[in-house]
Amino acid sequence: MTPRAGPTLAARVIRWQRRHGRHDLPWQGTRDAYRVWLSEVMLQQTQVATVLAYYPRFLARFPTLQALAAAPLDDVLAAWSGLGYYSRARHLHRCAQAVVAEHGGVFPDHSAALAELPGVGRSTAAAIAAFCFGERAAILDGNVKRVLTRVLGFEGDLALAAEERRLWALAQDLLPQRAVDVYTQGLMDLGATLCLARSAACARCPLAAPCVAHAAGTPQRYPVKTRRGKRGQRVNAWLWLRRRGAVFLVQRPAHGVWSGLWSLPQFDSPHALAEVCADWPGRGAWLAPIAHALTHFDWTLHTLAWQLPARAAAPAALPAGRWVTPQEALAMGLPAPLRRLLGG
Ligand code: ADE
Repeated sequence: MTPRAGPTLAARVIRWQRRHGRHDLPWQGTRDAYRVWLSEVMLQQTQVATVLAYYPRFLARFPTLQALAAAPLDDVLAAWSGLGYYSRARHLHRCAQAVVAEHGGVFPDHSAALAELPGVGRSTAAAIAAFCFGERAAILDGNVKRVLTRVLGFEGDLALAAEERRLWALAQDLLPQRAVDVYTQGLMDLGATLCLARSAACARCPLAAPCVAHAAGTPQRYPVKTRRGKRGQRVNAWLWLRRRGAVFLVQRPAHGVWSGLWSLPQFDSPHALAEVCADWPGRGAWLAPIAHALTHFDWTLHTLAWQLPARAAAPAALPAGRWVTPQEALAMGLPAPLRRLLGG
């Protein structure tokens, strides 16, 4: 083994983070686990720019863990509405309740216990533990996988659990003895600002000198991950039913896409919907189809806008639901495409 020359990778990341990293994000500068946990869950699948708008609003609505735990799930979903991946909001609520019920309202102070909480995976648990408690715990989210596989020239296929475990072990080995919080933030910052999926700004990267992928001129080869599931396609129909200024909403089932959110009645196909409302009073018009990408499939929603006459009774064939004004609707937990449709 040849000893590595120059500063360690961690020392390079820490020095760079202090000078060039991000320091004024609203969830930085605190060791309050409620705030850090909330930001990390929001940032799991959502860009910083979007979270910046939601995070202060959510905190104003639920200023403490106790307030969040005591709130009805519908209120939490409403505050989350637009951030997507709603299972995060349900887990967030369950997690708050678990911390209150099982930990006396105080987050556990180490990553192993944090990782047992609903919606807190290994990487999120490590981030919270590093930021709040200075624990030497490795994070490995999508951005950090990209940074580390490039720097190390890690060729293993991350679709294989054994290779993923090997990368976790390497990430753990790279941790510094001190300033783990700065290091952790530095890795996130590198992954979000320089070492991007389609372009790598190696000229400004503190890890360029020791980076295997940079030396080989092949950053784009990493991370290696085969088995890309083919995305499915789905087509359904939506009924946008209005009467006297109110819109008819149904609550989605507890499982599946948009679970628990309030949405428009959904039908298997435009044809099925057209049959249901064939003899209804009033008029309908098909809108331009809505294309919505979810994790595993692309969804096309053909939306029929149907206006019932003011004095008409609600059609008998409707599923259980509520008539609400657009203002009331916008205060509820709605899927993003419906929020846009209603002008929110
Ligand atoms: N992505 C995940 N966690 C983050 C954090 N704490 N700051 C910026 N981006 C992040």
